[in-house]
Amino acid sequence: MERIPEPELMDDPAQARAYAAADFSEPHDRFVALFGECFPGIAVTGPVLDLGCGPGDIACRFAQAHPRCSVLGVDGSDAMIAEGERLVTARGLAGRIRFHRARLPCALPGGPYATVICNSLLHHLRDPAVLWETLRAAAARGARVLVMDLLRPATEQRARELVTRYAGDEPEILRRDFFHSLLAAYRPEEVWGQLEAARLSHLRIQVVSDRHFIVHGCL
Ligand SMILES: C[S@@+](CC[C@H](N)C(=O)[O-])C[C@H]1O[C@@H](n2cnc3c(N)ncnc32)[C@H](O)[C@@H]1O
Repeated sequence: MERIPEPELMDDPAQARAYAAADFSEPHDRFVALFGECFPGIAVTGPVLDLGCGPGDIACRFAQAHPRCSVLGVDGSDAMIAEGERLVTARGLAGRIRFHRARLPCALPGGPYATVICNSLLHHLRDPAVLWETLRAAAARGARVLVMDLLRPATEQRARELVTRYAGDEPEILRRDFFHSLLAAYRPEEVWGQLEAARLSHLRIQVVSDRHFIVHGCL
Protein backbone atom coordinates (compact mmCIF):
# COMPACT_ATOMS: atom_id res chain seq x y z
CA MET A 1 0.00 0.00 0.00
CA GLU A 2 1.30 3.46 -0.96
CA ARG A 3 1.78 5.97 1.84
CA ILE A 4 -1.02 8.56 2.16
CA PRO A 5 0.29 11.66 4.00
CA GLU A 6 -1.82 13.27 6.74
CA PRO A 7 -1.73 16.88 8.02
CA GLU A 8 1.41 17.72 9.96
CA LEU A 9 0.07 19.56 12.99
CA MET A 10 -2.70 18.29 15.25
CA ASP A 11 -4.01 21.77 15.90
CA ASP A 12 -7.75 21.23 16.16
CA PRO A 13 -8.62 21.73 19.88
CA ALA A 14 -11.16 18.85 19.82
CA GLN A 15 -8.54 16.55 18.28
CA ALA A 16 -5.92 17.58 20.86
CA ARG A 17 -8.43 17.12 23.71
CA ALA A 18 -9.36 13.62 22.51
CA TYR A 19 -5.70 12.69 22.09
CA ALA A 20 -4.83 13.99 25.58
CA ALA A 21 -7.76 12.10 27.14
CA ALA A 22 -6.94 8.77 25.45
CA ASP A 23 -5.28 5.95 27.33
CA PHE A 24 -1.83 5.48 25.78
CA SER A 25 -0.36 3.89 28.91
CA GLU A 26 0.60 0.65 27.15
CA PRO A 27 2.63 2.08 24.21
CA HIS A 28 3.97 5.00 26.27
CA ASP A 29 5.17 2.82 29.17
CA ARG A 30 6.64 0.54 26.51
CA PHE A 31 8.50 3.54 25.06
CA VAL A 32 10.09 4.29 28.44
CA ALA A 33 10.93 0.59 28.95
CA LEU A 34 12.46 0.37 25.46
CA PHE A 35 14.69 3.33 26.30
CA GLY A 36 15.94 1.31 29.28
CA GLU A 37 16.55 -1.72 27.05
CA CYS A 38 18.37 0.32 24.40
CA PHE A 39 20.54 2.11 26.98
CA PRO A 40 20.83 -0.33 29.89
CA GLY A 41 21.94 0.98 33.26
CA ILE A 42 21.65 4.63 32.21
CA ALA A 43 20.03 7.02 34.69
CA VAL A 44 19.32 10.06 32.55
CA THR A 45 20.24 13.42 34.05
CA GLY A 46 19.98 16.97 32.69
CA PRO A 47 17.82 18.24 29.84
CA VAL A 48 16.01 15.84 27.50
CA LEU A 49 14.46 16.95 24.21
CA ASP A 50 11.08 15.45 23.25
CA LEU A 51 10.29 16.21 19.58
CA GLY A 52 6.60 16.36 18.59
CA CYS A 53 5.70 15.95 22.25
CA GLY A 54 1.92 16.41 21.84
CA PRO A 55 0.22 16.68 25.27
CA GLY A 56 3.35 15.45 27.03
CA ASP A 57 2.27 12.05 28.34
CA ILE A 58 5.58 10.44 27.32
CA ALA A 59 7.52 13.41 28.71
CA CYS A 60 5.78 12.83 32.07
CA ARG A 61 6.39 9.08 32.10
CA PHE A 62 10.02 9.58 31.07
CA ALA A 63 10.54 12.25 33.77
CA GLN A 64 9.01 9.95 36.40
CA ALA A 65 11.33 7.11 35.35
CA HIS A 66 14.40 9.37 35.39
CA PRO A 67 13.92 11.69 38.39
CA ARG A 68 17.11 13.68 37.78
CA CYS A 69 16.23 14.84 34.27
CA SER A 70 14.13 17.70 32.94
CA VAL A 71 12.27 17.62 29.61
CA LEU A 72 11.72 20.25 26.93
CA GLY A 73 8.74 19.22 24.81
CA VAL A 74 8.53 20.78 21.35
CA ASP A 75 5.35 20.82 19.30
CA GLY A 76 3.95 23.06 16.59
CA SER A 77 0.37 22.87 17.85
CA ASP A 78 -0.95 25.48 20.33
CA ALA A 79 -3.81 23.12 21.20
CA MET A 80 -1.42 20.28 22.09
CA ILE A 81 0.81 22.57 24.15
CA ALA A 82 -2.26 23.83 26.07
CA GLU A 83 -3.21 20.20 26.85
CA GLY A 84 0.40 19.53 27.86
CA GLU A 85 0.51 22.47 30.28
CA ARG A 86 -2.64 21.13 31.96
CA LEU A 87 -1.30 17.58 32.14
CA VAL A 88 2.10 18.39 33.69
CA THR A 89 0.46 20.65 36.26
CA ALA A 90 -2.04 17.91 37.16
CA ARG A 91 0.81 15.40 37.55
CA GLY A 92 2.94 17.78 39.65
CA LEU A 93 5.70 17.91 37.04
CA ALA A 94 5.44 21.55 35.93
CA GLY A 95 8.85 22.29 37.47
CA ARG A 96 10.58 19.63 35.36
CA ILE A 97 8.74 19.68 32.05
CA ARG A 98 8.56 22.77 29.86
CA PHE A 99 6.99 23.23 26.45
CA HIS A 100 8.17 25.17 23.43
CA ARG A 101 5.79 25.81 20.56
CA ALA A 102 7.67 25.58 17.29
CA ARG A 103 7.03 24.01 13.92
CA LEU A 104 10.01 22.01 12.73
CA PRO A 105 12.30 22.57 10.98
CA CYS A 106 13.58 25.44 13.12
CA ALA A 107 16.35 26.19 15.62
CA LEU A 108 15.54 25.00 19.14
CA PRO A 109 16.40 26.59 22.49
CA GLY A 110 18.87 25.01 24.92
CA GLY A 111 21.00 22.10 23.91
CA PRO A 112 22.94 20.45 22.62
CA TYR A 113 20.90 17.65 24.19
CA ALA A 114 22.48 14.44 25.46
CA THR A 115 19.14 12.62 25.20
CA VAL A 116 16.53 13.05 22.48
CA ILE A 117 13.23 11.16 22.40
CA CYS A 118 10.46 11.24 19.85
CA ASN A 119 7.25 9.26 19.48
CA SER A 120 4.86 9.35 16.54
CA LEU A 121 6.17 12.51 14.90
CA LEU A 122 7.83 10.99 11.83
CA HIS A 123 4.63 9.88 10.07
CA HIS A 124 3.23 13.43 10.35
CA LEU A 125 6.13 15.06 8.55
CA ARG A 126 5.74 16.00 4.89
CA ASP A 127 9.52 15.69 4.60
CA PRO A 128 10.89 12.97 6.91
CA ALA A 129 14.40 14.43 6.59
CA VAL A 130 13.19 17.19 8.94
CA LEU A 131 13.29 14.77 11.88
CA TRP A 132 16.75 13.43 11.14
CA GLU A 133 18.20 16.89 10.43
CA THR A 134 16.67 18.24 13.64
CA LEU A 135 18.31 15.39 15.55
CA ARG A 136 21.67 16.17 14.03
CA ALA A 137 21.32 19.88 14.86
CA ALA A 138 19.95 19.60 18.41
CA ALA A 139 21.69 16.52 19.79
CA ALA A 140 25.11 16.50 21.39
CA ARG A 141 27.85 14.32 20.01
CA GLY A 142 27.24 10.80 21.34
CA ALA A 143 23.68 11.70 22.37
CA ARG A 144 21.27 8.85 23.12
CA VAL A 145 18.37 8.82 20.67
CA LEU A 146 15.13 6.86 20.75
CA VAL A 147 12.50 7.41 18.06
CA MET A 148 9.37 5.29 17.92
CA ASP A 149 6.75 5.43 15.19
CA LEU A 150 3.94 3.54 13.54
CA LEU A 151 4.50 0.96 10.82
CA ARG A 152 2.41 1.26 7.68
CA PRO A 153 0.40 -1.96 7.30
CA ALA A 154 0.34 -3.85 4.01
CA THR A 155 -3.32 -3.07 3.25
CA GLU A 156 -6.10 -0.69 4.29
CA GLN A 157 -8.01 -3.71 5.58
CA ARG A 158 -5.12 -4.51 7.94
CA ALA A 159 -5.09 -0.84 9.09
CA ARG A 160 -8.82 -1.14 9.89
CA GLU A 161 -8.17 -4.30 11.90
CA LEU A 162 -5.47 -2.55 13.94
CA VAL A 163 -7.82 0.38 14.64
CA THR A 164 -10.51 -2.03 15.85
CA ARG A 165 -8.05 -3.98 18.01
CA TYR A 166 -6.28 -1.04 19.65
CA ALA A 167 -8.77 1.83 19.49
CA GLY A 168 -12.12 0.04 19.21
CA ASP A 169 -13.47 1.69 22.36
CA GLU A 170 -12.03 5.16 21.69
CA PRO A 171 -14.07 8.10 20.32
CA GLU A 172 -14.56 8.34 16.54
CA ILE A 173 -12.12 11.28 16.22
CA LEU A 174 -9.30 9.13 17.67
CA ARG A 175 -10.15 6.09 15.54
CA ARG A 176 -10.13 8.31 12.44
CA ASP A 177 -6.76 9.85 13.36
CA PHE A 178 -5.24 6.43 14.13
CA PHE A 179 -6.42 5.06 10.76
CA HIS A 180 -4.96 8.03 8.88
CA SER A 181 -1.72 7.80 10.88
CA LEU A 182 -1.30 4.12 9.93
CA LEU A 183 -1.75 5.02 6.26
CA ALA A 184 0.77 7.87 6.60
CA ALA A 185 3.38 5.78 8.42
CA TYR A 186 6.67 4.60 6.91
CA ARG A 187 7.98 1.10 6.32
CA PRO A 188 11.32 0.12 7.92
CA GLU A 189 13.01 -0.04 4.50
CA GLU A 190 11.89 3.54 3.80
CA VAL A 191 13.25 4.66 7.19
CA TRP A 192 16.51 2.91 6.39
CA GLY A 193 16.77 5.05 3.23
CA GLN A 194 16.06 8.18 5.28
CA LEU A 195 18.83 7.29 7.77
CA GLU A 196 21.31 6.63 4.99
CA ALA A 197 20.49 9.95 3.32
CA ALA A 198 20.95 11.72 6.68
CA ARG A 199 24.27 9.92 7.31
CA LEU A 200 22.72 8.26 10.37
CA SER A 201 22.90 4.67 9.18
CA HIS A 202 24.75 3.65 12.35
CA LEU A 203 21.39 3.97 14.19
CA ARG A 204 19.45 0.71 14.47
CA ILE A 205 15.90 0.04 13.30
CA GLN A 206 13.90 -2.59 15.16
CA VAL A 207 10.28 -3.67 14.76
CA VAL A 208 8.90 -3.91 18.31
CA SER A 209 5.20 -4.68 17.85
CA ASP A 210 2.57 -5.31 15.19
CA ARG A 211 2.32 -1.52 14.68
CA HIS A 212 5.56 0.06 15.93
CA PHE A 213 9.23 0.26 15.08
CA ILE A 214 12.02 2.07 16.88
CA VAL A 215 15.21 3.78 15.73
CA HIS A 216 17.85 3.96 18.43
CA GLY A 217 21.53 4.46 19.10
CA CYS A 218 24.06 7.14 19.90
CA LEU A 219 24.74 10.01 17.51
C1 LIG B 1 0.69 11.74 17.02
S1 LIG B 1 1.21 13.14 17.93
C2 LIG B 1 2.39 12.43 19.04
C3 LIG B 1 2.46 13.17 20.32
C4 LIG B 1 3.37 12.56 21.40
N1 LIG B 1 4.73 12.44 20.95
C5 LIG B 1 2.83 11.23 21.85
O1 LIG B 1 3.46 10.21 21.56
O2 LIG B 1 1.78 11.20 22.51
C6 LIG B 1 2.25 14.02 16.78
C7 LIG B 1 2.56 15.43 17.22
O3 LIG B 1 3.55 16.00 16.34
C8 LIG B 1 3.22 17.36 16.13
N2 LIG B 1 3.86 17.81 14.87
C9 LIG B 1 3.63 17.35 13.62
N3 LIG B 1 4.40 17.96 12.73
C10 LIG B 1 5.17 18.84 13.43
C11 LIG B 1 6.17 19.78 13.05
N4 LIG B 1 6.55 19.96 11.77
N5 LIG B 1 6.76 20.51 14.04
C12 LIG B 1 6.38 20.36 15.33
N6 LIG B 1 5.42 19.49 15.74
C13 LIG B 1 4.82 18.74 14.80
C14 LIG B 1 1.71 17.38 16.08
O4 LIG B 1 1.17 18.66 16.32
C15 LIG B 1 1.36 16.36 17.16
O5 LIG B 1 1.18 16.96 18.42
